Amino acid sequence: MITEHVRLDENNPDARLIERAGNIIKAGGLVAFPTETVYGLGGDALNAVSSEKIYAAKGRPSDNPLIVHIAEPEALSYITADVPECAKKLAAAYWPGPLTMIFKKSALVPKETTGGLDTVAVRMPDHRIALDFIRASGGYVAAPSANASGRPSPTTAAHVAEDMDGRIRMIIDGGDACIGLESTIVDVTERTPIILRPGFVTGEMLEKTLGYPVEVDRAILDKPAENLRPKAPGMKYRHYAPKGNLTIVEGPGERVVEEISRRTGQMLLAGETVGIIAVAETAGSYREGMVKDIGPLEDEEAIARRLYGLLREFDEAGVSVIYSEAFYTPRMGQAIMNRLLKAAGHQIVRLDNGGSPEAQ
Ligand code: TXA
Ligand code: MG
Repeated sequence: MITEHVRLDENNPDARLIERAGNIIKAGGLVAFPTETVYGLGGDALNAVSSEKIYAAKGRPSDNPLIVHIAEPEALSYITADVPECAKKLAAAYWPGPLTMIFKKSALVPKETTGGLDTVAVRMPDHRIALDFIRASGGYVAAPSANASGRPSPTTAAHVAEDMDGRIRMIIDGGDACIGLESTIVDVTERTPIILRPGFVTGEMLEKTLGYPVEVDRAILDKPAENLRPKAPGMKYRHYAPKGNLTIVEGPGERVVEEISRRTGQMLLAGETVGIIAVAETAGSYREGMVKDIGPLEDEEAIARRLYGLLREFDEAGVSVIYSEAFYTPRMGQAIMNRLLKAAGHQIVRLDNGGSPEAQ
């Protein structure tokens, strides 16, 4: 298949190109498109065959449900069986925006789209191109992140092309994703809303909007017990994985630099090629390895935005071993570390203030 590449201006997207993209979706084809979080791989959410094509293009297991993207909150009532009060409040506060909610689905949504579940994930993205494209597509676009299964989510159209060229009909380039991490997912089908995936919208923000506490799926926390099964099927896979073997080193600043430098030296001697992800404050302290500056520690939005791109750069450079500092920043730290820990297959070395490193 030949993939058509089109470039659109977010402030003034060409209406004819949007219409062409929408017609591809209506005819059962696939189009990758920009959103504020990451690029999505879109198909008609109400067409079972389109959803099957999405799984095939990504090489993704078909028990992993897709998010249905809508362009107006009113569209919710067609695809859900019930919209609880809390969801109305959250939609009013965060849509359009980086929040996905899980509802009981209506009969309109095929099981192929929801990975066989009776629930459906819905989100209204905060991106002009995405919204115009969803409207032109009939209003319901199923879209996972537009990466091949197991690779980091794409934050640029070039990342999408790396994984999807020749597999889908069109890639819409709308520039760099401004958040860079996937949306927060909240299950609103239970009595208390539960965060299934942390993101830009934090638990604190949700609690402030609702006026009562929300829960967090314990299986997604830092050190999940072995037998906990994440409620979002996708969270159980080792997503976001770079090709190099990634280890996170956490602890006081200078000790982290020392430990990563020591390990880097050893690995280089053993013939490995080593990449290092460091904050701006420490990046200059490393003497060896391919060092990538992810941004200043206080700029957590830059860290979130750059993470996946850096992991892809290491893939391209053929790095075999990667060390990353930890980024427990105040607001987005939970989301950033959730993705980084998954990329590392939970390999983390925790340094305390004195003794020897404690490997996990
Ligand atoms: O920011 C985002 O959410 C991006 C952009 C494109 O919108 N999309 C995205 O989709 O990250 P994807 O497919 O890569 O991740 C969707 C996650 C998966 O972990 C999936 O298991 C979970 O949402 N999910 C979808 N439907 C669900 C459901 N009914 N119940 C529980 N989890 C669900
Ligand atoms: Mg994904």
